[in-house]
Amino acid sequence: MLTNKPKAKILVDGGDPDETLRVKNLLGFVDGQTTNPSLIAKNPEIQQRIAAGHTLSPQEEKDEYRKIVRTISPLVGDAGVSIEVFADLDTSAEDMLAQGEEMFTWIPNAYIKYPCTHEGLRAAEMSVQRGLRVNMTLCFSQDQAAAVYAATRGTKEPVYVSPFVGRLDDRGENGIDVIKNIKAMYKSGDGHVHVLSASIRQLDHLLASFALNAELVTVPAKVLEKWAASNFPMPAQDFTYKGVGANAQPLKPIPYKELDLNRPWQSFDIAHELTTKGIQKFVADYRSTLKRSA
Ligand code: G3P
Repeated sequence: MLTNKPKAKILVDGGDPDETLRVKNLLGFVDGQTTNPSLIAKNPEIQQRIAAGHTLSPQEEKDEYRKIVRTISPLVGDAGVSIEVFADLDTSAEDMLAQGEEMFTWIPNAYIKYPCTHEGLRAAEMSVQRGLRVNMTLCFSQDQAAAVYAATRGTKEPVYVSPFVGRLDDRGENGIDVIKNIKAMYKSGDGHVHVLSASIRQLDHLLASFALNAELVTVPAKVLEKWAASNFPMPAQDFTYKGVGANAQPLKPIPYKELDLNRPWQSFDIAHELTTKGIQKFVADYRSTLKRSA
């Protein structure tokens, strides 16, 4: 069991309540949970239904999602459970907001996930005005994080922004630099956006997120189990992140950009190829649960 709880809140990145419970027993607590359409598609019960040849209707898929988050909700602490709207590249902000408003009623500790796109940001802006808690996902750049800040100014609840570290690493860029740059940029802000380090693939990502004072980090059970097996190491004072990819190649640094957080959110250059690809992957994984398996 973990005796010295880190300052950063620890969330489980998954879609299986049994796994969350296992991690809770291992650590002694779980601060929160993040889910997304790919992780829900991997849920063992959903997989069993598909393997047995049962097609899920969109309504049944939604019912399953609600059931999963309702089981997870009481297991976690005050970082809540993040629930992601179903959005493709054409989904309007109004559609996302309607889904978000419904999902927000599922559990008392919901955070609604919208993608870092123009429509996602518009949905977030409307959501915080209505008192919804939001988590802006598929963030890959400092510009996107600046837009999240500007679009949600005035919120009563903290807003999360989720930079995806591992997916930047996958294409040879140093994803941890994005965490570092966003944290540095937010220093001049009012603190209403909390950085939730995501797409964590290895122990070093976790330790670097701690070292950079990310407010939260969402971690697959597998990585948390590795952390527990090594007796919960914490980064030393002089911790430096190696910035080495899976193939032992050095990752390309991502430079810091001077951005003025007081600008209107629409003025930031929010386009990012990985955000588009991420949405496409979520859509594909969601649709895979709607089809009868071959
Ligand atoms: O928290 C984000 C996460 O679910 C995405 O992780 O491993 O698919 O890049 P990954």
